[in-house]
Amino acid sequence: MTPLRLRGVTLRNRLVVAPMCQYSVTDGFVGDYHLVHLGRFALGGFGLVIVEATGVTAEGRISHGDVGLWSDEHVPGLARVVDFLHAEGAAAGIQLAHAGAKASSRRPWDGGGPVTEENARPGEHPWPTVSASAVPAGDGWPAPAALTVAELAGVRDAFVAAPAPSRGSRRACEA
Ligand SMILES: Cc1cc2nc3c(=O)[nH]c(=O)nc-3n(C[C@H](O)[C@H](O)[C@H](O)COP(=O)(O)O)c2cc1C
Repeated sequence: MTPLRLRGVTLRNRLVVAPMCQYSVTDGFVGDYHLVHLGRFALGGFGLVIVEATGVTAEGRISHGDVGLWSDEHVPGLARVVDFLHAEGAAAGIQLAHAGAKASSRRPWDGGGPVTEENARPGEHPWPTVSASAVPAGDGWPAPAALTVAELAGVRDAFVAAPAPSRGSRRACEA
């Protein structure tokens, strides 16, 4: 396998695991599920393993089951996964995300579409969504609140803050 150099990171080969939402965490916290799910790809020899779409804000999650990085408290779980990937020779990546009008969705195997009080899992209420415009994601979806320019800057800042070294989350996003 030919190593691939990308700026400061050298992958051991060109095999990359794309981000794949698992909708399998609570309140954004990864645990054993993600250690096994992502760790197996490192054991399998991939050069780069990219963590699934990860909410930079709670309201920007696709679903209640999304991985999150809007709090320092999310860092240890992700760092544990990254340490394992590195120990097995893989580089780690993460897809930082904001779902906009598609936030507050049901998990695909629950039927997809927007969460409502009627179809919600116990304790998993719908939440008001925000986006760049008030255009709904589709028929039957609630209209998101249109963010102001200042509020959009806040979303931008959340993307910047999510992997910020000062928050101790550096290892969660660096190879
Ligand atoms: C289970 C599953 C979850 C996925 N989750 C994400 C995701 O979190 N972010 C993303 O950008 N794409 C996601 N995708 C899309 C994949 O990253 C990829 O683009 C798609 O599978 C097509 O890849 P391919 O052209 O190599 O088959 C997901 C795909 C699958 C099958």
